[in-house]
Amino acid sequence: MKLAKQVATNITWHEGHVERADRFKLLKQKGATIWLTGLSGSGKSTVAFTAEHALIEQGHFAYVLDGDNVRHGLNKNLGFSPEDRNENIRRIGEVAKLFADAGVLTFTSFISPYRADRDQVRDIHEQAGLTFIEIFVNAPLEVCEQRDPKGLYKKARAGEIPEFTGISAPYEEPLKAEIVLDVANHSPQECAAQIIDYLTQHNLLTA
Ligand code: ADX
Repeated sequence: MKLAKQVATNITWHEGHVERADRFKLLKQKGATIWLTGLSGSGKSTVAFTAEHALIEQGHFAYVLDGDNVRHGLNKNLGFSPEDRNENIRRIGEVAKLFADAGVLTFTSFISPYRADRDQVRDIHEQAGLTFIEIFVNAPLEVCEQRDPKGLYKKARAGEIPEFTGISAPYEEPLKAEIVLDVANHSPQECAAQIIDYLTQHNLLTA
């Protein structure tokens, strides 16, 4: 696992005057990172946006950090080599941690194919006393390839996309996911409900 090095020197941590608990109380919920991982086309973003919508309708503050979207901005300078994916996940892990600390129910929707990269994000949350929920969006490769919503599997099979996850680059399934979603047999609404049930049971929807 490649750890990012501290480069800047002469910097000092500045504590704010507001406690995390005060923000959570204001928002009537606890911030958390809800990390969806799975193959391209498994339905991560659909489930995340469905859950975000349902939570907002219930009066909660949720937000989705989506892989394809973040790669248009913050991470536009990264590709799909193992090193770039590591940096993609490291950055988004840090952003999600800030959002969670701010009090947001933060969904992330990234393939995040490497276990070590995901574990690193889990670690920084645990060290900060923040909740990290890993969700395996479990759809078999054949199902994702058959759906192929963006036509990318077809291109990858034709050799037009190098290092494509599941075809010519690895995907390491989670070993300790808090939630496994059987997306091949359940609708996005059912999967979103399963996540919201988990949040309720773990007291995240109250301050
Ligand atoms: S990750 O592996 O670094 O976590 P991320 O979730 O940000 O990937 O981006 C994946 C999305 O980029 C896919 O859903 C797909 O639309 C697109 N994509 C383009 N090239 C690749 C590739 N080589 N492997 C996987 N996804 C790719």
